[in-house]
Amino acid sequence: MNLPPTAGTPDQYGVAGHPVAHSWSPFIHGMFAQSTAQNLVYRLFDIAPEDFRREALRLFTSGVRGLNVTLPHKQAAAELVNELTPRAARAQAVNTIAFFEDTTLLGDNTDGIGLIYDLEHNMQLELADKRVLILGAGGAARGAIGPLLEREVRLLTVANRTPFKARKIATEFADMGLITGCTFAELEGPAYDLIINATSASLQGEMPDIPTGMVGDETVCYDMAYGRSDTPFTLWARSLHARATAKGWGMLVEQAAESFLLWRGIRPNTAPVLAALAQHS
Ligand code: ATR
Repeated sequence: MNLPPTAGTPDQYGVAGHPVAHSWSPFIHGMFAQSTAQNLVYRLFDIAPEDFRREALRLFTSGVRGLNVTLPHKQAAAELVNELTPRAARAQAVNTIAFFEDTTLLGDNTDGIGLIYDLEHNMQLELADKRVLILGAGGAARGAIGPLLEREVRLLTVANRTPFKARKIATEFADMGLITGCTFAELEGPAYDLIINATSASLQGEMPDIPTGMVGDETVCYDMAYGRSDTPFTLWARSLHARATAKGWGMLVEQAAESFLLWRGIRPNTAPVLAALAQHS
């Protein structure tokens, strides 16, 4: 459904997180709304974990039509909604909720498809038949794994500090393609085509302990974390002469565009937003 530009009271959207003050989502959705002439407001909702269910339901009953959900609420959001898209069900995590007029609360996960969109469209990477290594086995990794396997990568290795989580994910997604789980120390060459850092190590200024042989001069290294400067992971990759490094700004913008599409029926042009954010990265 393509919603026409509306006059009058703006429709309400926002992002729920804790903390959430640092979020770029109001800026991104504000630009999307302007460029697509959609009459909406997008606000920050700082909600403590123990209040998430009650507060989210209160927001929806008071007129909010959609929420993005960020840390630490992505699993609680999956439990709150009464319908999940297949990709959200696979990821067991929800980053987007849409509240429809028939009172359906639909939970979606646009993180993985946002990553894929950034890799394929913004970075011009071909994923089919590639050997891909994903570091981490938390919610961020879970969101990316299904969409990566759908692109028919040749092999997806999930490496994690706590090995049982990596092996559990590999078992859960085994029906979708060739996927294995291991520890960082168990990683073996040859170098991967693409390495995605989905751990939260960069947020702590740390680098997962990966054997250097995983990176060759054809390897693209992508850190889901974003910030102004290099992350420990992108610095490490560059020191090993990786072909390219990237941070998660593109994923952030593309997942937002997918949320906007679910809510408003229009996928906004992301290029102007990426250009605006590039001044901060
Ligand atoms: P998210 O939703 O962002 O994925 P999460 O579910 O808490 O957050 O998962 C964080 C991931 O980062 C996990 O894979 C975690 O490894 P463990 O499963 O062993 O805890 C990983 N991680 C966090 N800090 C790390 C570090 N310093 N080095 C390596 N991995 C780290």
